[in-house]
Amino acid sequence: AYRADDDYDYLFKVVLIGDSGVGKSNLLSRFTRNEFSLESKSTIGVEFATRSIRVDDKVVKAQIWDTAGQESEGISILPVSVLMNDLSSKTRKASLHTFRGHVFYSVLTVYDAGGWEKSCLISCFLLFQRYRAITSAYYRGAVGALLVYDVTRHVTFENVERWLKELRGHTDSNIVIMLVGNKADLRHLRAVSTDDAKAFAERENTFFMETSALESMNVENAFTEVLTQIH
Ligand code: GTP
Ligand code: MG
Repeated sequence: AYRADDDYDYLFKVVLIGDSGVGKSNLLSRFTRNEFSLESKSTIGVEFATRSIRVDDKVVKAQIWDTAGQESEGISILPVSVLMNDLSSKTRKASLHTFRGHVFYSVLTVYDAGGWEKSCLISCFLLFQRYRAITSAYYRGAVGALLVYDVTRHVTFENVERWLKELRGHTDSNIVIMLVGNKADLRHLRAVSTDDAKAFAERENTFFMETSALESMNVENAFTEVLTQIH
């Protein structure tokens, strides 16, 4: 039977997360356009692409969201911590928050800070609020996630735990999560063993696959598996 291009039974939002440079954007372009770029630039803001696949007798349209693994707007803790050290002890009643691996202070009470100190602290706090709002919007309504690390950079695997925490803090508990070890084509540079990742995935109750966006290995499988597991 004829079906129009944009005729689908389900629309699923899937998010891509993981450290900068692990290959999220290339996994997305490989899956949606069968394209790969050796010199892709870090993603700015949020991008998304769609692709429809058939699951059983239904057409599932995947709306896949992609963002930079690192905050691209250059906010860093450094000015804030320097500032905090400058303040008198009275003014240091602050609480700590972590976000994407950065530590943020949000100052609850500033007793005697004045002038530039106060306005710096307030703007830091507002930036923190803004990032929180952006993060919530990114995860809102997501029913699937690909949490990507780079098999050649161990630190990107270590950070998976943090990403998982952020993901679980912003999404429904029955979200389908696929841990993805990308760049499996770089065999001689491997720094994360398949067994370690598999054990981690089992412990955390997520699916797991190793992929190569370059060689087009398992990319189709990883996305399709997530879309199939969503009910
Ligand atoms: P951010 O947008 O900064 O978060 O990065 P990203 O996760 O989107 O990474 P991106 O897709 O831009 O890829 C980063 C680099 O890794 C690029 O130079 C890609 O060509 C390369 N790359 C991505 N996937 C693979 C892969 O499977 N194998 C190899 N060898 N290189 C890859
Ligand atoms: Mg990207």
